[in-house]
Amino acid sequence: ELGPYSHFMQKEINEQPRAVSDTAEIFLDGGFIAENFGEQAAQIFAEINSIKILACGTSYYAALTGKYWLESIAKIRCDVEIASEYRYREVIADPKELIITISQSGETLDTMEALKYAMTQGHQYSLSICNVMESALPRNSTLAIFTRAGAEIGVASTKAFTTQLVVLFGLAVTLGIVRGQVDDERADGYAEDLRLLPGSIQHALNLEPQLATWAQSFANKPSALFLGRGIHYPIALEGALKLKELTYIHAEAYPAGELKHGPLALVDENMPVVVISPNDGLLDKVKANMQEVSARGGELFVLSDLDSDFTASDGIHVIRTPRHIGILSPIVHTIAVQLLSYHVALVRGTDVDKPRNLAKSVTVE
Ligand code: M6R
Repeated sequence: ELGPYSHFMQKEINEQPRAVSDTAEIFLDGGFIAENFGEQAAQIFAEINSIKILACGTSYYAALTGKYWLESIAKIRCDVEIASEYRYREVIADPKELIITISQSGETLDTMEALKYAMTQGHQYSLSICNVMESALPRNSTLAIFTRAGAEIGVASTKAFTTQLVVLFGLAVTLGIVRGQVDDERADGYAEDLRLLPGSIQHALNLEPQLATWAQSFANKPSALFLGRGIHYPIALEGALKLKELTYIHAEAYPAGELKHGPLALVDENMPVVVISPNDGLLDKVKANMQEVSARGGELFVLSDLDSDFTASDGIHVIRTPRHIGILSPIVHTIAVQLLSYHVALVRGTDVDKPRNLAKSVTVE
């Protein structure tokens, strides 16, 4: 079943051009139409005034990324909450707020309980974004849409995450059209972005040999920092989680602007700092944050794109994707952080597919 690959995670990372293209087909074949999300979607999408997304782990980071698209493309307010926190606090429910759950397995207990709690508090509508057809979350939701990642075996989520992002982007464009925020010309542009995405992911996969050369610099370090800003901050969070899960190296992610408010104290020559910084409008800000790291002797590992003018120098390593990806850039930069963690795990000899203490599907509290 592994074919030419050594691990399921490696196989699943490499399946992403296919998984993403299959998932994008929902919108490229069917159009950005409400019906992709279920029979009642047209009526519900016309009625809602805000969104709350509930999820755990990597699916929560997908939600954080989706918030940027939902707010900037569809102009709909979106809150994101960790399911295990939401379910235990007093909430103010709004029947016109759509509850979205995101889950690879569809069986995560905290997410399921958070959904039930939201419904008992007065919410009316729910949408499940899920990778497993016959699972609890879509079964218990008003609307459902399925990612087309195929079975994901590695405990560390990879292709499930990037396909969740495709669906969230498709949802943002669909809601944008319903809400009169996206005209035909813009919708065509977004479709073109989706069409180009599998090729851009393949370009990112081709960076693997370069990323593998970075692995040695992380493998014997006690911890690492991941920085990003704006829509790339959730990808920094995802990068830090992948490194923790796969290599047991302590890793933390920060929005780069927060460095000076505390974490900068951690930075010295023993702290590798990964910066996700394509040319997305915040590049100059991120560069200023990188100066703060360099000045303290921190070693920078910069993931960027061709559109930026980063050059490697002493203490600054740079890997650039071969083209600027625009609005879907978080998806492409995810590939790099997955590959980096995978190669650090190989150097450290950890169990890539079954990290210690973790289960694929978390059906306990
Ligand atoms: O099946 P789900 O998407 O609901 O799972 C949520 C988390 O348990 C999951 O994403 C976890 O964080 C992964 N191991 C991350 O790689």
